[in-house]
Amino acid sequence: MLEIGPQHTLNYRHDILSPLFDYIQSTESCFLIGAGSMGKTRLLDHLMRQDVQQNYLGEQANKTLLIRMDMNRISELSEWGIYELGLTSLLQTGGLQPELEKFAKDSINDLLKPLLDRPDTLKALRYLELTIGGICRQNNFKLCFVFDEFDEAYRQLPAKVFAHLRAIRDANKNQLSYTVFLRNLPHCLRPPADHESFYELLSRNLIGIGPYNLTDANEMLRQLEARRSLFIQLPNTRENLFRVSGGHPGLLQALFGLLKETPEGDPHLVNTNWLIGQEPVKEECRKLFESLTNEERQSLTDFVHGRVTMLSPDMHKGLLIKGLLKPEDQTTFRVFSPIFNLYLQKLP
Ligand SMILES: Nc1ncnc2c1ncn2[C@@H]1O[C@H](COP(=O)(O)OP(=O)(O)OP(=O)(O)O)[C@@H](O)[C@H]1O
Ligand SMILES: [Mg+2]
Repeated sequence: MLEIGPQHTLNYRHDILSPLFDYIQSTESCFLIGAGSMGKTRLLDHLMRQDVQQNYLGEQANKTLLIRMDMNRISELSEWGIYELGLTSLLQTGGLQPELEKFAKDSINDLLKPLLDRPDTLKALRYLELTIGGICRQNNFKLCFVFDEFDEAYRQLPAKVFAHLRAIRDANKNQLSYTVFLRNLPHCLRPPADHESFYELLSRNLIGIGPYNLTDANEMLRQLEARRSLFIQLPNTRENLFRVSGGHPGLLQALFGLLKETPEGDPHLVNTNWLIGQEPVKEECRKLFESLTNEERQSLTDFVHGRVTMLSPDMHKGLLIKGLLKPEDQTTFRVFSPIFNLYLQKLP
C-alpha cells in the first residue's frame, strides 16, 4: 500500500529489521515485543514491501514468502479460526508470486471455497499442512508466518493450536518460521508450560520494539507533514517534538496534531505540564499505560515516585526491551519520555 507523502526509506527501523531478517533468513522463529502504539503494525507494513525484503534478503527474497497473519481478520479465536486464516493468508500471498499464482488460484477454488462453505476444523488443518508442505518441498520456498496484534489470541487460543504450529514447523524444518508481534512479553500472557514446544521455539529470540530514534522520528514527521499538508518551519521543532515524546509514534502523532492550533515556537510546545493537559496527548499516555501489565504499571509508578531504588531484574529487563526505560549512565535509568514520566507522576 502506498503512503500519502514520502515512503519510508530502506533505513527505517534498521536496528530492528536487521536482526529480524537474519532470523527469517536462517528460518528461526522469534517474538517482537513493543508496547501500545509503538509502531508494530507500521513496521509490519514496511517489512511486507518487496523492495524491503529484497534489501535485507537479497537473492533469497524471490524464494521467501512472508505471510501476514493479522489477528483482526480472524473469524474466531479457535482452531478453526487460526487454520482458516493461515490457509487463506497463505494462498493470498502465494497468489502474488508468478511461480505460485496458478497453484494458489486452483487451491482457492478447489480447497478453500468448498471449505468455507462447510467449515471443518480438521480439513482446515490438513489443507494448511498440505499446502505448506507443497510450497516448501515442490517449489522450494521458505515461509515465515508473521502474526500481528497477537496478544489476545496468544492468551485465548487452545493449547492444541500451538502444538500443531510446532508440528507443522518440525515437518518443514529449515523452511518455515514464525514471527510473533506482541505488546507484552509472552510469559506474561500465557504460562509457557501449557505450550512448551512452541514457546521454546521462539523464546530465545526476542527483539524489542522501542521508540523511534531521531532519524526514524524525522521520517515519521515528514510523512505527517505531507499527509496533513502542515509543514514544519522552524529548525528545532522536530528535535523538540522528538525530545518530549521520547520517540513514541503515538505521542509524536498527538504532539504533531497540536501544531494545527499552537504555532511553532510557542513555549507551551516544550512545556510538559501544559502538554500533558492536552486531550490527545493524555489519551496517548493512557493507551500506552493500559497496554502494560499490572506489574509493569505498578513498577513504573513506584519508579517515578522514587519508591523503589531497584526494580526486580525481570521487570527491569522487560522495561528495557520495550524501551520504556532508558539508561542514563551505567547505573541510572529514566523513563523514555518526559511527558510519559509526568503522566506517571500525576496518576492518582
Ligand atoms: N512512520 C510513521 N509515519 C506516520 N505515522 C506513523 C508512523 N509510525 C507510526 N505511525 C502512527 O502511529 C500510530 C501507532 O502506530 P502503530 O499502529 O503501528 O502502533 P502499534 O504498535 O501497532 O500499536 P498497537 O499496540 O495498538 O497495535 C498509528 O496511528 C500509526 O499510523
Ligand atoms: Mg498494531
